[in-house]
Amino acid sequence: MSEVVRIGLLGHGTVGTAFAELIAGGADEIAVPAGRRPEIVGVLRRSEGAFGEILERSEIVVELIGGIDPAREYVLAALRAGRHVVTANKQLVAQHGEELFEAAREAGVQLRFEAAVAGVVPVIRVIQESLAATEITKVFGIVNGTTNFILSEMANTGASYEEVLARAQELGYAEADPTEDVGGADAAAKMAILARLAFHTQVSLADVSYEGITEIQPDDLAYAKELGLSLKLLGVAERIDEGISVRVFPCFLYRGHPLAPIEGPFNAVMVEAPTITEITMSGPGAGGVETATAVLGDVVSILAGEAPVHQLRRELPAIDDVASSFYLHLEVADRPGVLARIADVLGRNEISVQSVVQRGLGDDARLVMVLHGCPERYFYAALAEIGKLDFLRAAPRAIRVIEEEFV
Ligand SMILES: NC(=O)c1ccc[n+]([C@@H]2O[C@H](COP(=O)([O-])OP(=O)(O)OC[C@H]3O[C@@H](n4cnc5c(N)ncnc54)[C@H](OP(=O)(O)O)[C@@H]3O)[C@@H](O)[C@H]2O)c1
Repeated sequence: MSEVVRIGLLGHGTVGTAFAELIAGGADEIAVPAGRRPEIVGVLRRSEGAFGEILERSEIVVELIGGIDPAREYVLAALRAGRHVVTANKQLVAQHGEELFEAAREAGVQLRFEAAVAGVVPVIRVIQESLAATEITKVFGIVNGTTNFILSEMANTGASYEEVLARAQELGYAEADPTEDVGGADAAAKMAILARLAFHTQVSLADVSYEGITEIQPDDLAYAKELGLSLKLLGVAERIDEGISVRVFPCFLYRGHPLAPIEGPFNAVMVEAPTITEITMSGPGAGGVETATAVLGDVVSILAGEAPVHQLRRELPAIDDVASSFYLHLEVADRPGVLARIADVLGRNEISVQSVVQRGLGDDARLVMVLHGCPERYFYAALAEIGKLDFLRAAPRAIRVIEEEFV
């Protein structure tokens, strides 16, 4: 066996540069668990290198270009040519995972992608390997550091979404075009990958419903604080009867919830199964050296042995009739009977109220309620009725709440 493992590096940006530096700086240390010393034998960028030549020289191809084209073409070509592949590309795995898994199986090579979800937090390895012997029922958490930074800053400083986004861009936590992150699409791709691996069923990105954080107002966060709640953009993938639900939405959590203290650009993922109760993993969800560390960990795993098999085991349809609790923010005329009429609408739709905060605003009043869980269609029916009440001064605002108390 050769002393050196030859790595072809596709992409030399934030993560690619950090990956090359890790190898240059610590190759001897890495050689200990892997038994061989990784060496980069070719680098591809827009302005440098030729894919065909790099492929010829490599045993492992590391794809850190991002996006679908040309990353998909290169990864498929590498797998079909019998090369192991490591990628950090969540869109590629979420959209073309089955095609890539199939190519890896046929060629008898490994495809690893730990860095594609939650950066260096080892969620994929835990789901596929540590928890391979249990039936996972739910995977959920904070899988986008940009939005978690923005929401924590808004809650801690009272600043608006726009102000905090600008600060996140200055600090490098948000991209110049933040749409994928703040709109929820980035988290949706990551949740599609986690659901696919946890439930062994095909998950189409089109089946993942998602909402972002662009509509969140500072006063929602201020009232939520009074109610002991903190706001996160959550991804939730769960088994429901004989189907699955995969969603991304902003959500309030009570203080004792394990995800409530996760602030700033951090990620955290919880996994539930009957035999393990639950586990929580948290840490940096992005960053050059952090992500590169996960990529290099995958290289070491490849050298250490077999990859998990990405076989589909079952077909589980997407379920959209889920139950949730909601926070409801209403601006109303301050006159007798208002609360009773709102309570009447909620009651007729079988929704009960957990808590209410009321504030006078001159002739108007603001009502902030937390409602107990109910099928979402009941809540949206009630919301449509409330939206038509003549004493309403502004459109109602609703955000989901996880009611579960953790001690
Ligand atoms: N940054 C993070 O914190 C982070 C975290 C988790 C996962 N990831 C994932 O890691 C991957 C890389 O992200 P990054 O932030 O390192 O990206 P980046 O800084 O934009 O770097 C991209 C690299 O790919 C090269 N490239 C782009 N198009 C190419 C093409 N058509 N042909 C050849 N090379 C091309 C670029 O070449 P030039 O140098 O010539 O421009 C650059 O070297 C992405 O899949 C991303 O989602 C990143």
